[in-house]
Amino acid sequence: IKNIGVLTSGGDAPGMNAAIRAVVRAGIYYDLKVTGILRGYEGLINGDFIEMDRKSVANIIQRGGTILKTARSDAFRSKEGRIEAYKQLKKSEIDALIVIGGDGTFTGANLFSAEFDFPVIGLPGTIDNDLEGTDFTIGYDTAINTVINAVDKIRDTAESHDRLFIVEVMGRDSGLIALRSGIGVGAEAIMIPEANMGVDGLVTRLETGRKDKASKIIIVAEGDEMGGAFNVGEVLKEKFPNYDIRVSVLGHIQRGGKPSCMDRVLASRLGVAAVEGIIAQRTSEMAGLKNNEIVFTPFDHAIKHIDAKEITPAWLKLVEILSL
Ligand code: F6P
Repeated sequence: IKNIGVLTSGGDAPGMNAAIRAVVRAGIYYDLKVTGILRGYEGLINGDFIEMDRKSVANIIQRGGTILKTARSDAFRSKEGRIEAYKQLKKSEIDALIVIGGDGTFTGANLFSAEFDFPVIGLPGTIDNDLEGTDFTIGYDTAINTVINAVDKIRDTAESHDRLFIVEVMGRDSGLIALRSGIGVGAEAIMIPEANMGVDGLVTRLETGRKDKASKIIIVAEGDEMGGAFNVGEVLKEKFPNYDIRVSVLGHIQRGGKPSCMDRVLASRLGVAAVEGIIAQRTSEMAGLKNNEIVFTPFDHAIKHIDAKEITPAWLKLVEILSL
């Protein structure tokens, strides 16, 4: 291996820049060339490549977003698109890839690597934390801290006005952002797709909850079966006409901002591990961190999200106890 290509793909996540920096620095350390690929698989197909050196990654560890930019590529889903991508890699003499992203990114990488016998290692970069093979994904810690900072402010005004707030957080298929941030803000209820409580469950929770405290925070994961915070709001307005209800959708602020120290260090460790993985001739695997140790997990396992991490009966009981 002489030349490693690196790209970020799918939704961005704070800490992606720290990961790019680590890949470039590790490449230089091991005497390899590192080529940056712009806009994920789109740039791969179009041959949008830039040479990366020590200086190109200076002063980025603290920056949110991704200096390589990102995209969700439809073209790479087709065989023709992937053939084009392979041609571009050959033309620029890139002989391995490090892809930073989530399940969509790894699904594409897995196909590509098998079709062209091309070495690819992945790094988990998504705020959702919905990948197997790593306790935490790059960006998750920052995102949940963004959520608690926002909801603490909402709590202030909720308290002043005796209002019930329904706050929607990201997580299209996963309640992990909602679960941790909900515990972190002391939410009265947390609604997640992995353990749908439904309208009835929510109504019961509110009816059996404290009557002496009018202000309440309900955290709803975007992917919950109720279809988002506004729908929950409509239902509650009907059931509880006496509550003064407001809805707040936090949206893309969760994807931006300076990465936390946890995310910077995670990204740095995994970035170096990915380069070392390529040198050790690993392929079609994601580098992750489990119990503070670097581990490699095959892409097809990493994307399954089968264990749903801490969404277990014990954690759900914890939520129940704490939201009394
Ligand atoms: O996968 C990360 C994520 O932030 C999801 O939680 C969310 O559903 C989605 O991306 C939003 O995507 P977009 O930025 O394309 O609207």
